[in-house]
Amino acid sequence: MNFTLIAHRGYSFSAPENSFEAFDMALERGFDNFELDAQITKDGQLVVFHDQTVDRVTNGSGEVFDHTLEEIQALELIGGYEFESDFPGAYIPTLDEFLGRYAGRAHPHLELKSREAALPTMVAEALKRHGWLDVADTESFDAPGITVSSFWADQLYRSKLRLPNVRHGWLINELSEETVDAALKLGFDAVYPRAGTATPESVSHAYDRGLGVRGWGIDNDDDMARIYRSGAGGTTVNWPGEAKAFLEAMAD
Ligand code: G3P
Ligand code: CA
Repeated sequence: MNFTLIAHRGYSFSAPENSFEAFDMALERGFDNFELDAQITKDGQLVVFHDQTVDRVTNGSGEVFDHTLEEIQALELIGGYEFESDFPGAYIPTLDEFLGRYAGRAHPHLELKSREAALPTMVAEALKRHGWLDVADTESFDAPGITVSSFWADQLYRSKLRLPNVRHGWLINELSEETVDAALKLGFDAVYPRAGTATPESVSHAYDRGLGVRGWGIDNDDDMARIYRSGAGGTTVNWPGEAKAFLEAMAD
């Protein structure tokens, strides 16, 4: 199947999102592309975490930016889906821990989650430190490899200036002539529309203009069928194993 299933925040349907347990599970189940979110703590450290506050998925409360690294790593990751088992000891990783652990054996899709102008620079330095730029290219989903993404065009632009050889994909709601023009003007390599909005026409238009395309925001099988049939190169999904079985059955 020429369609890449990217484990969203790791295998987040079955283990705490953005935890080593979820990323390891993705790798063990054959998914070496996984998505993660990066943001900055109160004391200027990079952590792998999605929400603006820690309330939904940990036993703590408050903004990420109001926690020091020590405080944030003392929290337990407990929230998300109803997992089959507990994951005692699951904690919020630093980006350095993440990049060291998976070096040479994965293709992370790193989302610049927050708005601080320092974030792209700090992430670029971390990627360099851990040798990820040696496996970078602007087109493939091969592992090892690295992709940077963001909903924030300004953050993605700052990152692309620092990492010209790394694939940069802009997370958008819907593909249109305007978004394709803007992505090209800003020097991005790819556009990532919400799966439920993708059409074969809009995807092939982006390809014709030289951009890569993959989806995000899979809520159900209809979204999965739609993004697959659109001709996009892949999508993030919280349940990649189940999605693979679904797509294989669809192809029969
Ligand atoms: O693949 C991108 C996806 O992660 C974007 O949405 O809010 O889950 O980070 P979000
Ligand atoms: Ca994300």
